[in-house]
Amino acid sequence: MSAPGTTLPIDEAKLHAFMEKAVADIGAATHAVLILIGDRLGIFKAMADSQPVSSEELARRTGLSERYLREWLNANAASGYMTYDSAQKTYTLPPEQALALAVEDSPVYLPGAFQIMSSLYHDAPKLESAFRSGEGVGWHEHHHDLYQGVERFFRPNYNANLVASWIPALDGVEQKLKRGAKVADVGCGLGASTILMAKAYPNSSFFGFDYHNESLALAREAAEKAGVGERIRFEISQAKSFPGNDYDFIAFFDCLHDMGDPSGAAAHVCKALKPDGTWMIVEPFAGDAPEANHNPIGRIFYSASTLCCVPASLAQEVGAALGAQAGEQKIRSVVTAAGFTRFRRATETPFNLVYEARP
Ligand SMILES: C[S@@+](CC[C@H](N)C(=O)[O-])C[C@H]1O[C@@H](n2cnc3c(N)ncnc32)[C@H](O)[C@@H]1O
Repeated sequence: MSAPGTTLPIDEAKLHAFMEKAVADIGAATHAVLILIGDRLGIFKAMADSQPVSSEELARRTGLSERYLREWLNANAASGYMTYDSAQKTYTLPPEQALALAVEDSPVYLPGAFQIMSSLYHDAPKLESAFRSGEGVGWHEHHHDLYQGVERFFRPNYNANLVASWIPALDGVEQKLKRGAKVADVGCGLGASTILMAKAYPNSSFFGFDYHNESLALAREAAEKAGVGERIRFEISQAKSFPGNDYDFIAFFDCLHDMGDPSGAAAHVCKALKPDGTWMIVEPFAGDAPEANHNPIGRIFYSASTLCCVPASLAQEVGAALGAQAGEQKIRSVVTAAGFTRFRRATETPFNLVYEARP
């Protein structure tokens, strides 16, 4: 056999292996919608005790249709998200899956990632036009599942790492924050990181800047709810023009590569910091060469970058489009060209690189 339009032979074993992989991907993509539904309707939470449950009992517990639940349960069992006892006709959400799917504050909580995917499917027609025109699609032009999904997916990661390991990895910053420092969280989105820092460092004052008003309104609400509304000012602002020039600490969480003019933002940060201040840049984990990112995590980041980060940057002035897999060399050159004299990778996790820049 050869492929149509070519004389290249088809290797049956390779074809078979690819079809197996693609079938698994089709299953995962289809099941993703069921995860969204399970999250929104509280079905995973109703099974969080990891005890066997029948579809009838689950229907009583949730008030949902038994017939739909039975099909949903079997899809989850086929996907390896649940176990099935054929003798008892019961389904169990194992404790590990419960931690990932039903416990909002667990460090491995995943439903936010599926909410992000929902927005990307909604936004596919806009992105198809952008592929043709080369124009951008602004962060603000996406379905609202993107902002909420990002907050829900990133917050557990920040809860697990920001105060425990990222800030302590920076030179002298933790001590300053404990004593009382002036802090800006730029591109703060729904404010998960700002709120976390405000709770951890009660002597410090916090400013959250973002250009997206809708996100800031949700950030203010969340800060009030967390009891730190008085200690954070969320203001609409561009990263290259936010107010103030005496910050001890400025943080950018997963947003420098989304900006149209990251160099302009870096130059502004350099002016806005005190001479002994620190800029922390949290970016998605990435190697410098594309092939270093051709792995399961890079697959997620390159896909999100195609649909979200590159179009967001192209929608802004300059349109540098660094992409979510920019890598250390590119970030270093943006930062040092802006006037920072010191730049280092302070720490990392499987999902993030954390850089420290000093004027
Ligand atoms: C991926 S989200 C990250 C949000 C938040 N930092 C977090 O980690 O949850 C990127 C954020 O950058 C913001 N952003 C993008 N370009 C910006 C710019 N030029 N100035 C200010 N904010 C910007 C977006 O509005 C969005 O909230």
